[in-house]
Amino acid sequence: MVIDRRRYARVVVLTGAGVSAASGLRTYRGPGGVWEEHDVERLGHVSALTERPADVWRLFGGLRQSVLAARPNPAHDALARWQAELAQGQELLLVTQNVDGLHQMAGSRNVCEIHGNVLHSRCGSPDCTLAQFRDEDPHTSAVPSCPLCRTAVRPDVVLFGEELPALPSWTAKRALRDCDLFLAIGTSGSVAPASSYVRGAEYAGARTVYINLEPMKDPNPAFQEVYIGRAEELLPQLLGM
Ligand code: OAD
Repeated sequence: MVIDRRRYARVVVLTGAGVSAASGLRTYRGPGGVWEEHDVERLGHVSALTERPADVWRLFGGLRQSVLAARPNPAHDALARWQAELAQGQELLLVTQNVDGLHQMAGSRNVCEIHGNVLHSRCGSPDCTLAQFRDEDPHTSAVPSCPLCRTAVRPDVVLFGEELPALPSWTAKRALRDCDLFLAIGTSGSVAPASSYVRGAEYAGARTVYINLEPMKDPNPAFQEVYIGRAEELLPQLLGM
């Protein structure tokens, strides 16, 4: 089975942690997953920023170090190449739940990072004017503080209990409204709101495809097609590359 890329004018691709597994990055759920080792309620929730900021930095600082050592794999490369080979009048929006920046490193453009980027930090105060900035320091030994207001600085990732960043979230929803092909790749489909994007795509009349190492725990009937396997192997095949 091959997806004929010439047939689709408005494509939305949603990626999750499974796409970066072959780059050596851990997924969140399942064996060896981040939330298998750490309690998601304890460290993945926004309340952890005030209750245990040093633990939050130990976790995300560690992820930051892994991300700095990681490189794109054939799944990232296939998506970047697809975007580079679009014909006139075709659009592809890449929406990612990943915070690793590997799609951009592979050459993808206009990536919607709906969960932020772990290589960025920002002041924890919503009132502070400090701009979000690239930060390669893992801060695993001390919590950094804002040079302007002294509030604790935090990794720029979306934690449970927080709103998604407005622009990427709005851009994704707008593209879903009239897409004709929707692919979800390497995601367990268990985290809202990305887990319901497929329903928006189905409503728009799109072909909906799920590509993942394992079937969804609660299969989503909005997916018309399911391909089980490794994204780095399946994706180049499905896209005929
Ligand atoms: P999950 O860890 O929930 O799911 C990753 C999926 O990838 C699993 O279903 C695996 O079976 C699958 N997988 C593993 N290796 C794969 C491979 N080589 N090819 C294809 N699939 C593979 O990750 P997400 O769905 O991305 O939030 O999780 C969503 C959000 O939950 C994350 O963005 C994260 C987390 O809390 C933040 O970090 C802000």
